[in-house]
Amino acid sequence: MKYLFQIFLVFMFFGCVSKEDKKPVITKNTIYKPSEMAVLMLKMYDANLENKKLILEGKKPTKFSEEFLNIHTATLTDPTDRDVAFKGYSDFYLQNYKIVFETDKDSLKLMHNNTINSCIACHKTTCIGPIPKIKKLLIQ
Ligand code: HEC
Repeated sequence: MKYLFQIFLVFMFFGCVSKEDKKPVITKNTIYKPSEMAVLMLKMYDANLENKKLILEGKKPTKFSEEFLNIHTATLTDPTDRDVAFKGYSDFYLQNYKIVFETDKDSLKLMHNNTINSCIACHKTTCIGPIPKIKKLLIQ
């Protein structure tokens, strides 16, 4: 029970449910269900954390995840977020992410950080909550 409450706190903190009218209503019978996009984002987070580890170990990431192309279609908590700018940020992120798998070893750190900065660029416009968490993916 304590554990469940912690998960709940994490969602409240990192999820984008802070806009006043969109607070999830949690009663005994309903439970906050993350959107397809939120689930995809968490996978993107894990994949980039994995890439960071590999790069720090001097290895080259090889598992480009086609699933992340779904950023263009996954349903959002707030569907009005998907405007022209959002599509632009999605393409920008995907382009940078692809380069990580194509670049030579010397540029890996730079290309990885470009990818993470493109996550942050979009988040500055739509969803500022997770930015401190995303920044941890940067390689110093
Ligand atoms: C094109 C814009 C955009 C890009 C690029 C983007 N995000 Fe997101 N992210 C969002 C939006 C919008 C949400 C809220 C999704 C929702 O609630 O439906 C979100 C949610 C999240 C969440 C919170 C998930 C939750 O609810 O627990 C995390 C963590 C996250 N993103 C990490 C990342 C990471 C890491 C990257 C880059 C690898 C990234 N994002 C790239 C727009 C973006």
